[in-house]
Amino acid sequence: MGIAVYPGSFDPVTNGHMDIVERAAQIFDEVIVAVVINPDKRPLFTMDERLEMIKQSCTALPNVRVGCFSGLLVDFMRQEGAKVIIRGLRAVSDFENEFQMALMNKKLHPGIETVFFTSQTEYAFLSSSLVKEVASLGGDVYHFLPAAVLAQMQIKYGASGSGERAVSKKGGE
Ligand code: PNS
Repeated sequence: MGIAVYPGSFDPVTNGHMDIVERAAQIFDEVIVAVVINPDKRPLFTMDERLEMIKQSCTALPNVRVGCFSGLLVDFMRQEGAKVIIRGLRAVSDFENEFQMALMNKKLHPGIETVFFTSQTEYAFLSSSLVKEVASLGGDVYHFLPAAVLAQMQIKYGASGSGERAVSKKGGE
């Protein structure tokens, strides 16, 4: 099925993203997880941190590669010889923006198709920004993030990543 590119900010990569990477890796010969370099955004994690966390989360997926790009996604696709863009759809609210981007990318490069993966229901509410908010406020994000990301999140926020906070509260400490 050729090469597919899964682009995004991945600030940071979540279990919802990883679910899509794993499913895409079963369909396409190669999947490139491509982190966008966006000078207009101020990410929590540096590009190197984001790339490293994705790499560590994909070690069991031999046909998944990690990269980054600036400028137009379609130019990166051309450079990599990829014909398919993968995007995840969580809810109807995602659709309008995703539909717009898919049509624009098709206009810019007619040889490209965008393929949408519907998120599993357990991840339908998950977003990087929501996870960051919960972690920054001391909430437990253990169930939402790959192990490599949890470790980094704990460094950034001292976030509870093991459920210990909830357990100790129940224990009355
Ligand atoms: O994870 P995100 O922030 O929803 O990802 C958005 C992304 C990276 C897919 C989108 O912003 C993008 O493709 N940026 C590259 C610039 C570009 O090609 N823009 C025109 C496409 S519509």
